[in-house]
Amino acid sequence: MTDLHPNRYRTAWAGELRPADLGEGVRVAGWVHRRRDHGGLIFIDLRDRSGLLQLVFRPEEAPEAHAAAERLRSEDVISVEGQLVARDEGAVNPALPTGAVELAVRAVDLLADAETPPFQIDEDEPVGEELRLRYRYLDLRKEAMRENLALRHRTVRTIREFLNDRGFLEVETPILTRSTPEGARDFLVPSRLSPGSWYALPQSPQLFKQLLVVGGTERYYQIARCFRDEDFRADRQPEFTQLDLEMGFVEEEDVFALIDPLLRDVLALGGIEVDLPIERVPYHEVMLRYGSDRPDRRLGVEIEDVTEHVRDSGFKVFSGAVASGGVVRAIKAGGEWPRSRFDALTERAQSLGAKGLAWAVVEPDGWRSPIAKFLSEGEMTAVTAALGAGEGDAILIVADTAEVAARVLGALRVEVSDVEPTGHDLFWVVEFPMFGWNEGESRWDPLHHPFTSPTGDLDADPGTWQSRAYDVVLDGWELGGGSIRINRPDVQQRVFDALGIGPDEAQERFGFLLEAFRYGAPPHGGIAFGIDRIVALLAGRESIRDVIAFPKAASGVDPLTGAPAAVDDRQLRDLGLKLR
Ligand code: AMO
Ligand code: AMP
Repeated sequence: MTDLHPNRYRTAWAGELRPADLGEGVRVAGWVHRRRDHGGLIFIDLRDRSGLLQLVFRPEEAPEAHAAAERLRSEDVISVEGQLVARDEGAVNPALPTGAVELAVRAVDLLADAETPPFQIDEDEPVGEELRLRYRYLDLRKEAMRENLALRHRTVRTIREFLNDRGFLEVETPILTRSTPEGARDFLVPSRLSPGSWYALPQSPQLFKQLLVVGGTERYYQIARCFRDEDFRADRQPEFTQLDLEMGFVEEEDVFALIDPLLRDVLALGGIEVDLPIERVPYHEVMLRYGSDRPDRRLGVEIEDVTEHVRDSGFKVFSGAVASGGVVRAIKAGGEWPRSRFDALTERAQSLGAKGLAWAVVEPDGWRSPIAKFLSEGEMTAVTAALGAGEGDAILIVADTAEVAARVLGALRVEVSDVEPTGHDLFWVVEFPMFGWNEGESRWDPLHHPFTSPTGDLDADPGTWQSRAYDVVLDGWELGGGSIRINRPDVQQRVFDALGIGPDEAQERFGFLLEAFRYGAPPHGGIAFGIDRIVALLAGRESIRDVIAFPKAASGVDPLTGAPAAVDDRQLRDLGLKLR
């Protein structure tokens, strides 16, 4: 901890006292962590942000302090003064950094009373998350939570120092703004001064960072709050924090050259070693082998394309899928394979859009499988060999469009893997397609966002366009993503056209950007990282809620403040709003 300015409450951090500090007149302050009455002696563990220190109250030496200690309860706030003494040899607690000393207390100041807390401030006590969030200020007193916040601070500091050293400027961008399409729903804020008009909270600073580069900033970054009204997951919050950055006059290689060593420095904070350069894998390859654009490759199970082996099969489910332009892909997995497990996986596959799931278990004399009778000996042998499957292994096969096969097997590989992941897996995904087909809405959606620079023949079908986008994946989490941007108004309109945004709508929604591109916009590009996700991974946490001081609960509610909440009629009237 940094140095301490002694004052009337404390002259030392409780958790930092060591045998070298033995002596008179030590004063510490904090919370009553635990109290133990030992006949005459009373022991209290005092907690401050640096850790725990044992206080001892002796009735014969300090009767007043001892009497006060008898009345102290968990979480009372005190300042105490006394003599730091060495503990008896048998009483030394090697598990505690201060375990060789204790403070023999002479005087106690009770600074604030505490009611009995709804849960103990104890790492081992399991507490429901709703309750933790309702009393977040108590939850934050736990050492693990304190460490998470400290780690978050160190992460952001490391990022800032790294970028400051390279000439980046930290610039704030508006929170009350217009919609930026990042693919989620906007949070809207009604305008009092222009009734019927709304601000949108930024889904990211995307357009402003591009305008900053057009404005000559050239190297911008921000620890930026972003807002997206989307469904909750362990790795998603409606408001979250990005490291957002953008550079002028750059190409992909310049971004990688900046980010590779930045990630190395940041991940080192969690003891994660990164070899440079960070591996780059084309999108089509991760989709083919892992069925996801952010796979955890440590799980092992890889998808094999077996289309060629069953193209002419007598089994129409396979040959028919191939004939209509589809694929046949498969995974293998070890373990126990009762019938019920295949049934459960079939249901799961269907819920993900598969028409069915073919399965087999490799046995000494061939496949045990409901489809064995439809396949030739040669087909089964070829599929078994392609997967490198051995006796006892299960084989799961999906015949469908490439997209469905990837989605289904990408999910099943995670479920059937029996590998306990060790180490870490970090890589770039590159060479993305520009668009993905949205079945439900019958239109193209950008895989990143519409400001990403497309490549390829722009006169050809948009489905063939590639983009200059890149993502970073760590242990199955998408940590960040970005791209080289469009900097010409005509190209930007081409992309809008492909998305069904005509010139009038483009003018209405993004006229300011198209206009800026007419006044000398340099080539530019950048990236954004999810800070919450980075810190959660560094801290070894499953949920980003554990590394955010005041997160929302899964329902989108803040149990502490009760937000979102009703507002009174007058506020609605001022805003010109009426509830239905
Ligand atoms: P993107 O939408 O990929 O890109 O977001 C960048 C990173 O932000 C994190 N993230 C989230 N974290 C927590 N909760 C959420 N709801 C959430 N949504 C996203 C992820 C993600 O990788 N403007 C572009 C970046 C660019 O092109 O430069 C953007 O926002 O870690
Ligand atoms: P059916 O002829 O439709 O009864 O299917 C025979 C077997 O093939 C069953 O085990 C189905 O689960 C499986 N199956 C059906 N459709 C597919 C598909 N698209 N991909 C893989 N297996 C399938």
